[in-house]
Amino acid sequence: MTPRTYAPSQKVLHWVVAALIFALVPIALAMANLPDGPLKNALYEWHKSFGLTVLALALARLLVRAARGAPPLVAGLPAWQRRAAHASHLALYLLIVVVPILGWAGTSACCAPVMLYFTLPLTLPVSGGMPVGEAILKIHQLAAFTLVVLVLLHVAAALHHHVVRRDGTLRRMLPGRGSE
Ligand code: HEM
Ligand code: HEM
Repeated sequence: MTPRTYAPSQKVLHWVVAALIFALVPIALAMANLPDGPLKNALYEWHKSFGLTVLALALARLLVRAARGAPPLVAGLPAWQRRAAHASHLALYLLIVVVPILGWAGTSACCAPVMLYFTLPLTLPVSGGMPVGEAILKIHQLAAFTLVVLVLLHVAAALHHHVVRRDGTLRRMLPGRGSE
């Protein structure tokens, strides 16, 4: 049966993943542009650990989504907006899985070992060294910038619903019972 609201777990996962992405994109821009040194190295470590956390939470999100579904879009939307909403949600789900996998595979091939939060070694067995690693990281960067653009459109759509259409779309993703 189609649920009428998002489950609390879906809301928590949505906002924790969003917060991690809002942290790790500026970290990525800083780490890529800083001169070599301890700060740059630390930012790489935080970027990789936050990114792997996004991957784990994204997989959990997909499981909950598959098991429980999601409430239908609010009524009265034109067909193109319904299609755009479904396509962008699908693309966001895809990218929050693919972007970290690409970063993980690329850095495992070329660069420093992957340590989750400075403790758990998680380097993937990807061969090919620097050329393969750099090629994968280039795709990681492109996919990550695509994710950033989609998130900006997604936020604009959420604010449009809340401020212009004044429907319950944003409220039903917020903590509490929400509205349908
Ligand atoms: C949703 C998760 C992630 C997002 C949104 C993200 C975002 C980004 C972005 C925007 C860049 C480009 C920075 C620039 O060149 O200006 C980047 C680079 C990079 N990311 Fe990620 N990333 C994620 C996950 C990961 C993970 C899981 C790893 C590794 C375990 C990783 C490793 C790297 C590395 C090694 C670079 C290359 C930086 C350089 O060119 O020196 N990322 N990431
Ligand atoms: C930054 C990373 C973000 C990602 C990856 C993301 C991803 C998603 C995805 C995949 C859905 C569809 C949920 C489903 O149907 O199962 C969704 C729903 C939603 N998101 Fe985000 N989101 C992000 C940030 C935000 C932000 C910052 C806002 C608000 C300003 C927001 C507002 C919403 C709302 C209101 C919904 C519900 C849409 C509906 O029920 O029709 N999201 N988000």
